[in-house]
Amino acid sequence: MTHYSKQDILELPNLQRMHLINTCGGVKSANLIGTISKTGVTNLAVFNSVIHLGSNPPMLSFMLRPTTVERHSYSNFIEKIDFTVNHIEESFVSEAHQTSAKYDNDISEFKEVGLTEEFIEGFEAPFVKESKIKMGCTFVNEYLIKEHNCRLIVGEIQHLLVENGIQEKDGFLDLAKANSLGIIGLDGYVKTELIDRYAYARPNQDLKPLKR
Ligand SMILES: Cc1cc2nc3c(=O)[nH]c(=O)nc-3n(C[C@H](O)[C@H](O)[C@H](O)COP(=O)(O)O)c2cc1C
Repeated sequence: MTHYSKQDILELPNLQRMHLINTCGGVKSANLIGTISKTGVTNLAVFNSVIHLGSNPPMLSFMLRPTTVERHSYSNFIEKIDFTVNHIEESFVSEAHQTSAKYDNDISEFKEVGLTEEFIEGFEAPFVKESKIKMGCTFVNEYLIKEHNCRLIVGEIQHLLVENGIQEKDGFLDLAKANSLGIIGLDGYVKTELIDRYAYARPNQDLKPLKR
């Protein structure tokens, strides 16, 4: 087994250190965040940091990189409040990855990469039509993480759209059925495969796999 001390990590070439540290935390979620500017230009960008915060009220969060360069998603949802979170699937993974390119703010990534905008009534931000699981959220708060100048963005889920055949009776979304992907680091995409689900774990009690 290779043992990296903090010093070893600091002495690695930049790119190698970035890949190492970006992958060592485990598989992350693969989402496209959709927004719209005040002049009506839609924006789409891949994010690997979306996690749920709580279910009542339904909230999620994600990490936004330092705003030392233009961050179109950020400026859009700060102004317009609405943003969407759309699961990435294998059928459009290369298009999704391409959204990370730095397009000018008058260019819509939807058109550039070939994904389809979808709007629902009463909600301003664009959804990704091709995505089977998607959320319409409103921006609630941001927390500056002063150690690395990133922002933790907090959003409230106002709409949750799920294609038929993905949800189980108890509410659970089988992401494998949706072909939702995960992300390793910043450029590795993985499929999801459900191994098992388990009943609530208690001390000194056999763990029960849930019948599916
Ligand atoms: C796989 C992957 C995951 C990413 N995850 C994040 C993320 O969680 N937070 C972030 O701020 N940027 C992330 N990025 C970078 C954005 O996608 C990129 O900066 C994009 O250009 C932002 O677009 P915008 O300026 O239109 O908002 C990620 C890029 C890739 C390739």
